[in-house]
Amino acid sequence: MAKQSTVLIPLQKRWPMIIIVLFSLSTAIVFLIRASFDSCNTRSYEDNSDNQIHVTTQVGSLANPLIFMKSKLVLLVSHELSLSGGPLLLMELAFLLRGVGAEVVWITNQKPTEPDVVTYSLEHKMLDRGVQVFSAKGQKAIDTALKADLVILNTAVAGKWLDAVLKENVPRVLPKVLWWIHEMRGHYFKVEYVKHLPFVAGAMIDSHTTAEYWKNRTHERLGIKMPKTYVVHLGNSKELMEVAENSAAKRVLREHVRESIGVRNEDLIFAIINSVSRGKGQDLFLRSFYESLQLILEKKLQVPSMHAVIVGSDMNAQTKFEIELRNFVVEKKIQDRVHFVNKTLNVAPYLASIDVLVQNSQARGECFGRITIEAMAFQLPVLGTAAGGTMEIVVNGTTGLLHPVGKEGVISLAKNIVKLATHVERRLTMGKKGYERVKERFLEHHMSDRIALVLKDVLQKSKSHANS
Ligand SMILES: *[C@@H]1O[C@H](CO)[C@@H](O)[C@H](O)[C@H]1NC(C)=O
Ligand SMILES: *[C@@H]1O[C@H](CO)[C@@H](O)[C@H](O)[C@H]1NC(C)=O
Ligand SMILES: *[C@@H]1O[C@H](CO)[C@@H](O)[C@H](O)[C@H]1NC(C)=O
Repeated sequence: MAKQSTVLIPLQKRWPMIIIVLFSLSTAIVFLIRASFDSCNTRSYEDNSDNQIHVTTQVGSLANPLIFMKSKLVLLVSHELSLSGGPLLLMELAFLLRGVGAEVVWITNQKPTEPDVVTYSLEHKMLDRGVQVFSAKGQKAIDTALKADLVILNTAVAGKWLDAVLKENVPRVLPKVLWWIHEMRGHYFKVEYVKHLPFVAGAMIDSHTTAEYWKNRTHERLGIKMPKTYVVHLGNSKELMEVAENSAAKRVLREHVRESIGVRNEDLIFAIINSVSRGKGQDLFLRSFYESLQLILEKKLQVPSMHAVIVGSDMNAQTKFEIELRNFVVEKKIQDRVHFVNKTLNVAPYLASIDVLVQNSQARGECFGRITIEAMAFQLPVLGTAAGGTMEIVVNGTTGLLHPVGKEGVISLAKNIVKLATHVERRLTMGKKGYERVKERFLEHHMSDRIALVLKDVLQKSKSHANS
């Protein structure tokens, strides 16, 4: 799946301290959010106090961009409910809409047949925040779809729900459907998923590259035309920014993570944080890492001890590929420099501990690649493939360095690793520039602004459709 920091298993038990730090942080954040929602739904966009005063004196002018969604009924259709990128993003949107007083109903099209802990806890999280959770099938879902002001389908696969549940009502619902698409793989271009796509009010896609790709592929493969398409870059959650901007918390997390994997404070860590799979390019990254060590030896460069960390390991899911990675490490005798970490939902401790993020997604790259903006929030430079959403996030030479996908990219990534290892000042400056870029365009309120424009447009369109 071309999603963002997809991560599945909760934080390892052996870091009670980290959990305490994060817990107290998130509790504080919840209070902050409550406080700001309580104050007439205004929200301060800057954290300097001048603006705060501005907000209280000019209620409305700096109001939440989504405020017009107040009392609107929104139906969210998710293909699944898991800790992967797509559903989590839709949940974030659900909470943003609840925050402005919209009535939000969630349905999950594909539920596990067995009771599932993750699904259960996510549903409860939503119920706690006032999101209603209905069964995907049955009259209640149909009635809600017919009554809703807006229906948001999340991912291409969610398209299966339309015919299966709405049946003859499909044409009545389509004009108020916004289709949010986060994927960019061939098997999503299936008629059974997307045949209604041309007739919905709009499609919302995470990057320009992905939008172009969808336009091309639907046309060439299926002979259908995309509806009006909006590109909406994602933003970092407030919770993540809160940790990223708390240097005390970061220091504690950094110490604990480094200690747990046996890396000293002064060592340099290059990390890739993605589910381990060939598409994410961990194999090529390890080859580049090995090449960079060779270059450093050959040129007798003075650099700190270097480590590669691979966060997102799952021996059960990608066994063959995982074994291949480990064999490579053994064969090249770099076991003491390469560290594998299991999948985790909580990427902040790792972002706090590493020095450079590597985004090595192959082929068409990431659809957006949320981990990239998350890393930039932590002032990390990014070494990324020149493909997909990464190119819309990373400014080559300023906030990171790009290298080609495929085997051609191995040496160029190796050289970039050496560059950042040898030029401390450059590395730190790139991290700072990345952080500035996040503050300029990849925050939650930026995403809300962008989504607000789309929702307004779609509401208007469906209203004029209903009137005609
Ligand atoms: C669409 O994709 C095909 C094959 O990938 C490519 O040859 C063609 O130039 C693309 N068309 C546009 C308009 O980008
Ligand atoms: C990582 O996952 C594997 C199984 O997938 C498990 O055996 C191992 O104990 C896990 N490691 C940690 C540190 O949790
Ligand atoms: C990135 O910048 C480097 C020079 O700093 C250049 O050699 C490389 O071609 C650029 N890559 C892309 C994809 O723009």
